[in-house]
Amino acid sequence: MGKLKDIPKIDRPRERFLEKGPDALSKSDLLAIILGSGIKGKNVKQLSEGIIKKFGKNFLNITVNDLLEISGIGQAKALQISSAISLVKRFYADEKSNEIIIKNSQDVLSFTYDLRDKKKEYLVCLYLNARNSLLKKEIVSVGLLDKALLHPREIFYPATELNAASVILIHNHPSGDSSPSEKDNQIVEKIVQAGEIMGIPVIDFIIVSENNHYSFHEKLQKQKEGLDYVADGGMQATLFTLFEVKKPSYEITAEKIQENYFYIPQVKENHIQLHNRRYIGNKHKLIEWIFSIINKECSGNSFADIFAGTGVVSAVATKQFKKVLLNDFLHSNYAIYRAFFGNEVWDKNKVDGIIKNYNNIYADDLEDNYFSKSFGGKFFSNNSAKIIGFIRENIEENKNNLTQREYYMLIASLLYTADKIANTVGHFDAYFKKEFVNDSFFMKPIDPIDTQEISIFQEDTNILAKKIKADVVYIDPPYNSRQYSRFYHVLETLTKWDKPKLYGVALKPESENMSDYCRNNAKDKLAELVKDLDAKYLVVSYNNTYDSKSNSSRNKITLQEIERILKTKGSTKVFEKNYRHFNTGNTNFNNHKEYLFVTKVKNE
Ligand SMILES: C[S@@+](CC[C@H](N)C(=O)[O-])C[C@H]1O[C@@H](n2cnc3c(N)ncnc32)[C@H](O)[C@@H]1O
Repeated sequence: MGKLKDIPKIDRPRERFLEKGPDALSKSDLLAIILGSGIKGKNVKQLSEGIIKKFGKNFLNITVNDLLEISGIGQAKALQISSAISLVKRFYADEKSNEIIIKNSQDVLSFTYDLRDKKKEYLVCLYLNARNSLLKKEIVSVGLLDKALLHPREIFYPATELNAASVILIHNHPSGDSSPSEKDNQIVEKIVQAGEIMGIPVIDFIIVSENNHYSFHEKLQKQKEGLDYVADGGMQATLFTLFEVKKPSYEITAEKIQENYFYIPQVKENHIQLHNRRYIGNKHKLIEWIFSIINKECSGNSFADIFAGTGVVSAVATKQFKKVLLNDFLHSNYAIYRAFFGNEVWDKNKVDGIIKNYNNIYADDLEDNYFSKSFGGKFFSNNSAKIIGFIRENIEENKNNLTQREYYMLIASLLYTADKIANTVGHFDAYFKKEFVNDSFFMKPIDPIDTQEISIFQEDTNILAKKIKADVVYIDPPYNSRQYSRFYHVLETLTKWDKPKLYGVALKPESENMSDYCRNNAKDKLAELVKDLDAKYLVVSYNNTYDSKSNSSRNKITLQEIERILKTKGSTKVFEKNYRHFNTGNTNFNNHKEYLFVTKVKNE
């Protein structure tokens, strides 16, 4: 049997690997090292060349059975190859799940949280790869920024070390004024030129002060043509250029109106943030716009988010109002609120420990359960579904050993993990009919929100409205016929854990929590709600999907109807912003606008 040592020395892949590193080896050389020895009639090099040739681009999808079909390959070798492939895929998936993609200046702002109240000037660099994924955040200088003192080397040396494809710079102005100074302009010019020469473009330079920010992005785009020295067309050759795939674009999403910075959660490594989920109509990306308006138009101590969805609006409200109330009739949302916003006791080490143990569970060691029998091979891979079902059962069995907060924290972590690996476009009305590539399962703890006085409800909003009182009430109901309880039924089933009988292709339970706001009587329900609410200000979100071609996306209430209903309560202003929502995939929302109505309730 031909082993590696039988190959002429000059051709031995192991030696070449040690001398020159893995990049000097072909794919078949690398496979030869994994296999170690050949089979009867073929040395290891011929064997690996044959395998690479046979499977070509499909190599990463080879199964053990495919390999066993090759004459001379036994179970041991087939497993060696398959395990190596799975290992690579697993690490790659982990890396991707931690990936932070930066698409616009709003995304950059989440890295400025710690800079805004600094007394000294800082220059911070974000290094991105060709997919606009963050490679590293680095403080480049502390103290007064001076063109003469700052050498481009300090910025671009780490960039070359990291093989970065582009750079974003952040600078703080402790004075509170975010407009660029003359010195800032000179520095930007110098750094941008250096970046162009090196083929590592500077895509944005953002100045932040305590409450504002200024982005050079647009200016830099215009200047580009005027620069004298441009290497490689100003762009590194990347996988995107090789495969002629369009690089993710970095665009400004901020509107021309000056939006104030309020609160963007820090990215806490290996933790789940409240907004890290896919939820139709969530307001995460509109939060600064919404609160810029609320803070300008409203005042008071208490805030009620009565169609709270993900809860991202409440999360910001907790930083601005003394008392916050949030409500949604979905079981999964309620569990998530109790986990993130609750003020009951919990033991961090205990929760982290339990999650760590959950991450050491292997599907092969588990029997099928309700969740895997229902959703395995459909919304999730069989393996992930088995693990999810097992963990959910285990949380329920251990309920008596957990505080309420710990119980909801574990459920919330599981819900976010399930959402992340689900084989869907972001809701559970349908799943992809494709082979499962995402067989991964890795649960992270949630990062709870520090709150003062919080009230959490799970009620029909129109019933709740008769019982509550708040200075500002934020109203963000569904506006089309798509029922949230049906879209997120898998998360509902996973939360309630009453293991219901499921129906149809999408495996939905009997219907529950069907909203009147998705029906034809929606405008009457809104009128009733507005009449019953005891508030100083009503703030209503609305988006113009009314003209959508898809019937289910068409709005049940028109803009004019909302305005008319609100005017019965007091003087009403309307604000608008161009915005493209996360939608379910088959609706084309061109010319999409987001509206915010603010009604100052008149005293009766
Ligand atoms: C447009 S979403 C709200 C999105 C939310 N503002 C966010 O940023 O994530 C509407 C929410 O209202 C809830 N909902 C619909 N009808 C309801 C009702 N009658 N009572 C309580 N909640 C309701 C849905 O479950 C859904 O989460």
